[in-house]
Amino acid sequence: MITNTELELKGNQFPNHIVSYNKNIDVLDFRTENDVTLQITIVRDSVIRFRYSTTSNFDKDFSYAITKYASTGYNYLDIEEAAEDYIITTQKLICHINKINLKVNIYDAKDKTLISHDELGFHWEESYEFGGDIVKMSKTSQDGESYYGLGDKPSHLNLKGKRFENWVTDSYAYGKDTDPIYKAIPFYTGLHHGKSYGIFFDNTFRTFFDFAHERKNVTSFWAQGGEMNYYFIYGPKMTDVVANYTDLTGKPHQLPALWTLGYHQCKWSYYPESKVKEVTAKFRELQIPCDAIYLDIDYMEGFRCFTWNKEYFPDPKRMVQELLEDGFKTIVIIDPGIKIDKDYEVFKEGLENDYFCRRADGPYMKGKVWPGECYFPDFTNPKVRDWWAGLFKELIEDIGVKGVWNDMNEPAIMEVPNKTFPDDVRHDYDGNPCSHRKAHNVYGMQMARATYQGLKKFGYPKRPFVITRAAYAGTQRYTSSWTGDNIATWEHLWIANVQAQRMALSGFSFIGSDIGGFAEQPNGELYARWIQLGVFHPFCRTHSSGDHGEQEPWMFGEEITAVVKKFIELRYQLLPYLYTSFWHYLNEGTPILKSLVLYDQEDIQTHYRTDEFIFGDQILVCPIIEANSKGRRLYLPKGNWYNYWNNKFSSGGKEVWVEADLDSMPLFIKEGAIIPKYPIQQYVGEKEINEVVLEVYYKKGKENSFLYDDAHDGYDYTKGRFSLRTFKLTGKTNELIIQQHKAGTFITGYKTFKLKLIGIPFNISKIQIDNEEIDFEAVKVNGDNTLIIDKDFTSLHIMQ
Ligand code: GLC
Repeated sequence: MITNTELELKGNQFPNHIVSYNKNIDVLDFRTENDVTLQITIVRDSVIRFRYSTTSNFDKDFSYAITKYASTGYNYLDIEEAAEDYIITTQKLICHINKINLKVNIYDAKDKTLISHDELGFHWEESYEFGGDIVKMSKTSQDGESYYGLGDKPSHLNLKGKRFENWVTDSYAYGKDTDPIYKAIPFYTGLHHGKSYGIFFDNTFRTFFDFAHERKNVTSFWAQGGEMNYYFIYGPKMTDVVANYTDLTGKPHQLPALWTLGYHQCKWSYYPESKVKEVTAKFRELQIPCDAIYLDIDYMEGFRCFTWNKEYFPDPKRMVQELLEDGFKTIVIIDPGIKIDKDYEVFKEGLENDYFCRRADGPYMKGKVWPGECYFPDFTNPKVRDWWAGLFKELIEDIGVKGVWNDMNEPAIMEVPNKTFPDDVRHDYDGNPCSHRKAHNVYGMQMARATYQGLKKFGYPKRPFVITRAAYAGTQRYTSSWTGDNIATWEHLWIANVQAQRMALSGFSFIGSDIGGFAEQPNGELYARWIQLGVFHPFCRTHSSGDHGEQEPWMFGEEITAVVKKFIELRYQLLPYLYTSFWHYLNEGTPILKSLVLYDQEDIQTHYRTDEFIFGDQILVCPIIEANSKGRRLYLPKGNWYNYWNNKFSSGGKEVWVEADLDSMPLFIKEGAIIPKYPIQQYVGEKEINEVVLEVYYKKGKENSFLYDDAHDGYDYTKGRFSLRTFKLTGKTNELIIQQHKAGTFITGYKTFKLKLIGIPFNISKIQIDNEEIDFEAVKVNGDNTLIIDKDFTSLHIMQ
């Protein structure tokens, strides 16, 4: 055990006793005798903000992470002064502030269990190197505590026993446990004694987290500058913790256009035009669904952003239009580095308007990226963001590009040693001028935000689609993301699975990996297994560096092509299910991918599981991540499940062996679920959807399912023109009842539902629709338990 004195010797300083206390509605200030101020803001009954200053003054309150749309307001607030503590009580939490040392303990208001306990609590170290304080917090790690979240860390899902750093970093061919990599999301969830809470350390400097690594009973976090400024978010359900964090840092500003949830094909690089056309034609020839085709850096003239290589792409507008007629949306890459070239319009504009980042002593920040020496726009300046947004006019409005892929926005520089800007580079930080030490982690986020603004402006009323590599907390409001330059290895398939789940647990659901691996080349088996996982990631794209061979679905022989096609088709069938999950995410902040621990935190069997996850609410997915597998063992969470492939019924709460030859992967459907499916389309909108299939999985008991729909693009849905159907299933020994509740004014194109009744334990002889008896023989199709009924039924009784 390290004592305060030992740490003090190492230069740490601690708050001492409280000398004054001040309350201004929901903001409480506690000041200590040595001038430390703890400012507590009651954001909600379950969300409390803690902010510490060592000088009794606070800097202007500004955050890129927190959204102005965050919910605020509480039902109950009481502050009491006791002998040793100040006690703050909300409807959900009781918080004790120790008068002697400013340490904080937080309890569940209902059952008074201890949730969070300051070990040393807040302390700091003056740093000559950084010209400020290193601000630190340490808390006791509780018995059996587990930790989740923290963005894209390629490590075991449970962070316990590990230490991490957040410094957005270009990490070509990173590996398991490489740290830090592309994203900085300083938010984690702790779980102990069945209860879950979250901590969001909203500090953009280089931050560190230690989860009982250095000292077994301590979890700590600290930053090389800025404020100790964190939000404590209580559950006790982990779903609520993540939802509340997502509420605080923002849900995506709009639903994604449905086509963005289709399959995307990418490579570094498809060029010239004839090659692009050859690839897209092959998709259609083989009838493998695909919605998006990417142009990597070679489409540009000498890697100058917002230009086209006229030799490879003589008439981009025509090409983009032709691709669109075939259902392909064109997505182009845009990097932050602007080539230093006095004849290049974008460079000239940036220079004339002083939009580029400068070093502390005045000169422009110069660094080498793909085009050679570049200057870099300061995206933390709102004027620069507006200018940048304006640059998309031609690409989006005139040429018809449908999405933009922001890369290298860590920012990545090709010079060692630090591969990014030097610390002294200056940033506007939205009117709060600072050095790169503070702005680094948000640089990529602000670039993606500016890009988003451009797409929104010039693509309106279409919904913008942006992809970013770098991200800070809150970036999910503007953009989707991928996990960067991974490698075509089995280990990376494991990593991709963990990263996507972890990002979802960190409020960022629209995520996927480079399917098949970016660096090196997968064999057919690995590619097939990766596609099987990838079609269950919200963002689904094959991408490769292209220098180790081709990575299109048909490059690995017929057997693999068939498997890949089958799974991409399944993705397209499940689009209404995924879209509905997105709608939940947008409305409630619940992640689209749910790690087993989030799904059932009370079952300790889930705390160290990494592989299985729930896609949406009702589909259990477990990828095969080892070569030559004929199946695998997996943990079926508690409850009852149907094997998707053969409808075999199993009860959960145990490990099971599941067969899964190369053309299959373990998929289970929660009993009682009603899974909506579209017909297979080669791209979204190819077919008019006249009928939606509902796969109904019988349950003895009750289960709710949802089907959200709208125009699949545009903003009419925000004015009520959506269709939300809630299906309430009740199963009895000799009867199955489905009640439908409808909301929204959108009239869906489909008129009927084709119900496939699975697992019904009785022979159907009678059916009532809206209390009218129907002859089952007259409505059933294919001779099995399938029937077609009007989409607007309100109650359906299926009887023995
Ligand atoms: C980076 C990106 C990769 C891209 C390449 C060329 O490595 O991560 O996706 O293909 O740059 O633009």
